Amino acid sequence: MDTGPTHPDYTLLVTGNRGTGKTALLNVLEARAFERGWMFITAAASTEPVSARMASEAQRCLARLRKGRGSARVSSVSMMGVGVSLDPSSQEVNQASGLLAVLEELGELLAQRGGGLLLTVDEMHDVDRNDVRTVASAVQIVTRRRQMPVAFAAAALPLIEDTHLADPNMTFLQRCARARLGLLGEEETRAALRQPVLDSGSAIDDDALAEAVALTLGYPYMIQLVGFHAWQMRDDPSTPISLTNVRAGAAEAEMIMVEQIAGPTWNRLSPMDRRFLIEMLPDEPDSSLADVAARLGRSLQYARTYRRRLIAAGAISTSTKGRVRFLHHAFRSRAASAALEG
Ligand SMILES: Nc1ncnc2c1ncn2[C@@H]1O[C@H](COP(=O)(O)OP(=O)(O)OP(=O)(O)O)[C@@H](O)[C@H]1O
Ligand SMILES: [Mg+2]
Repeated sequence: MDTGPTHPDYTLLVTGNRGTGKTALLNVLEARAFERGWMFITAAASTEPVSARMASEAQRCLARLRKGRGSARVSSVSMMGVGVSLDPSSQEVNQASGLLAVLEELGELLAQRGGGLLLTVDEMHDVDRNDVRTVASAVQIVTRRRQMPVAFAAAALPLIEDTHLADPNMTFLQRCARARLGLLGEEETRAALRQPVLDSGSAIDDDALAEAVALTLGYPYMIQLVGFHAWQMRDDPSTPISLTNVRAGAAEAEMIMVEQIAGPTWNRLSPMDRRFLIEMLPDEPDSSLADVAARLGRSLQYARTYRRRLIAAGAISTSTKGRVRFLHHAFRSRAASAALEG
């Protein structure tokens, strides 16, 4: 935002598995934009096209700017869909030219006044491809070609690599700077668990902290959950968090991880993806790909295809060469309960 449209990160694509902090990061960017008096528009995959939402929100920004109110939070306004009975192709054309026109006008005014506009799109992998193209072509012209102060940041699951990013017509997205959110390292995990406790005027025992670091495996959402629930487990809030508190908190956290992270991921998987995960269950902590292939009664090549799909879906990771492991214990639990159900 300081450097302007020439900075490579001015158009940014954040990718990461469920619960790695993509939405949290977009929210921080929006807060920074707001602090510096920028306008911002947030959109996410939903029933209403992102391009239509952006165009109508940008109209609002324009109206505010003309009335002399510089900064505005406009994200929480819910919009009705574009309820007009045009055939889809002409509606698309209208949305494309409509969004471009309003962004150009807004960009020009903001450039004159030394402000800017941040556009954020969450859950980009679920946005319809034509809709992505409409937004991309407008931002391409306004930001990249005309160098107006309109920054763009989107967040998506890594599976977008195989969908939108694999599409040869998606050069805009392919050329966005990439921020890949992954698991935190041990030191970062320790700091993320310890610092908020200290900042709140409390403490955590050394063995409790070590256990919490080990149990979260650097998974950001799990860190948040274990920290929160271990804190809540204390009978006396003035005592430091103990090992017992951490273990009880982690049990609670894992149930939530299954429900909120592993469950939704599982629901998106195909029957063969699920069989692959179930065939990994006998091994601890990781499985050889060859064993999984044999249990499935398929070739190694076939198993490799499913390994790639499941990595993209955020269910497994490769440990060492030729071996796979569940990305988090919650995925193992989800697969185990499916195996029990038959
Ligand atoms: N940098 C951070 N600081 C504090 N908490 C964080 C941070 N990143 C993530 N979290 C915690 O992890 C949770 C999950 O983060 P977030 O919702 O941003 O993940 P996400 O990648 O958007 O997941 P999804 O793909 O499911 O939408 C947040 O609710 C928050 O509690
Ligand atoms: Mg999110």
